[in-house]
Amino acid sequence: MVRGTRLKDKVAIVTGSGSGIGKAAAIHFASQGAKVVCADINLESASKTVALISSIKGLAHSVRADVSNQQSSLRMVAETIEHFGKVEILYANAGIHLPGSLVNTRLQDWEHVMSINLAGVWLSNQAVIPQMLNQGYGSIINQSSISALCGFPGSAAYAASKGAIVSLTRQAAIEYAKRGIRINAICPGAINTPLLAKRYEQRMDGNEHLPSLGKETSRNAAKKYPMKQIGSADDVAHMAVFLASDESRWITGAIFPVDGGYTAA
Ligand SMILES: NC(=O)c1ccc[n+]([C@@H]2O[C@H](COP(=O)([O-])OP(=O)(O)OC[C@H]3O[C@@H](n4cnc5c(N)ncnc54)[C@H](O)[C@@H]3O)[C@@H](O)[C@H]2O)c1
Repeated sequence: MVRGTRLKDKVAIVTGSGSGIGKAAAIHFASQGAKVVCADINLESASKTVALISSIKGLAHSVRADVSNQQSSLRMVAETIEHFGKVEILYANAGIHLPGSLVNTRLQDWEHVMSINLAGVWLSNQAVIPQMLNQGYGSIINQSSISALCGFPGSAAYAASKGAIVSLTRQAAIEYAKRGIRINAICPGAINTPLLAKRYEQRMDGNEHLPSLGKETSRNAAKKYPMKQIGSADDVAHMAVFLASDESRWITGAIFPVDGGYTAA
């Protein structure tokens, strides 16, 4: 873990920070000096991330938040301001994947994916932007996916939700560019997290949940990547730290693949 001051004195909210990429980003943000609100629908897992941050002498606070719920997103921001006084960074990372081809996707699954992945990003952006406008400063990072840029069979709702996040990010960036708020999106490729393990397992066997990615599955996935490996949550967190920091002060409305070359091939 690299320690530094790139986010010194900044306050960040990371949604979905109880697991995977969000957890890694919360830890990296804190190790760069940010005070971090770890928000997750699963409070216990968010609290575990807070404990990890405390163990490296970082400052963090856990909040139970369901990003698909408007009141819950507003409360998440209000609690951040109560606790740390301001909020400069939002990493709208929380998301889920449900399998289904275009024809086989059930309407309830489509709506569930859209409510968390797309409405969740919109509602958390909507909740935080008034505070950022008051401050005249903010950096928002929205979590998309290479599924927004390339087709993958069996992921219709997920791909549509991630594609819309790219459009929403560009639209919002232009809307707030003059007022000090930068809004960018990250498009990760395959990242070794519980979500990916579940996604591959669902594709192979129905709906069974695997806690971590098997070596064989990981090797097969890696073959499709020009760099012949899949990514880690840290690989995405490093991009998030850059976009959260003032080093990216002239970057807004941009879409960043973090994908070992997948979208370049
Ligand atoms: N892992 C990958 O290969 C990959 C690739 C591209 C994009 N992504 C995206 O990155 C993000 C994080 O994925 P991950 O792989 O770390 O997943 P993960 O399943 O490990 O973690 C997701 C976290 O989000 C939380 N969450 C789910 N619904 C929520 C809600 N309604 N409100 C608040 N929190 C909620 C979960 O409790 C969990 O802690 C997602 O948006 C995902 O689509 C992941």
